[in-house]
Amino acid sequence: MLKLTGVNVDLAGNRILRDIHCNFVAGSTVGIVGRNGAGKTTLLRSIMGLVKLRSGEIMLDDVNLAALPGHARAGLQIGYSPEDRVIFPTMSVEENLRLPCASLKQSRQAIDQRLEVVIEAVPDLKPLLKRSGSALSGGQGKMVALGRALMVGTRLLLLDEPYQGLAPKLGLIYTQALGRLKTMQPDLCVVITESNIKLLGDIPDRIWSIERGSIELQKTL
Ligand SMILES: Nc1ncnc2c1ncn2[C@@H]1O[C@H](COP(=O)(O)OP(=O)(O)OP(=O)(O)O)[C@@H](O)[C@H]1O
Ligand SMILES: [Mg+2]
Repeated sequence: MLKLTGVNVDLAGNRILRDIHCNFVAGSTVGIVGRNGAGKTTLLRSIMGLVKLRSGEIMLDDVNLAALPGHARAGLQIGYSPEDRVIFPTMSVEENLRLPCASLKQSRQAIDQRLEVVIEAVPDLKPLLKRSGSALSGGQGKMVALGRALMVGTRLLLLDEPYQGLAPKLGLIYTQALGRLKTMQPDLCVVITESNIKLLGDIPDRIWSIERGSIELQKTL
């Protein structure tokens, strides 16, 4: 489904991703584990088109993402929850959730329907809908970022260190939401980065390890 071949990325003159070859299958949940600075965020940003590749190919089925501008990827049903969340503080939670679909010019009815599905998967969002984006705790912000990624991410979901700084109770709620989602959308591919492998528990069915910009398959569960 998503296949990276020979991906190299340089930032500020340094090689950050080195000859990345990896393959994510529809319906799988993939962990990418590596210590701080290993290149996890850069890898997700490369898939989102937020950094330029020096070389290589990123194929989503038969579309080469490397040849598309970043904004064109939203229409490809890829959802991204960045590590710093970026919830708009001047908008309500509901407006934050609707925003990515609205910017894709989806119909009101399609957005309403998708919002219902997202709330079914993440019911903890419901009481937050009318709240201002500026009035969220760190953990609530992560749930909103998950919901927002889900609004457009019906095929591929990229979650950058969602468990970092999440209290154990919220971590459990987050994991339950991912579990519901897999039942509701069995073909969805979920990619989760983490620096502490223990935080992923038994969520992933595959784990890749990333170290100084190089990736290798660590285990298949
Ligand atoms: N804009 C940038 N310019 C130059 N170097 C960068 C830039 N962004 C990241 N780097 C460097 O690239 C390397 C990988 O960073 P990246 O943020 O991808 O790692 P990470 O695995 O996500 O780390 P963390 O666990 O801290 O989030 C680091 O050495 C970092 O300093
Ligand atoms: Mg990171």
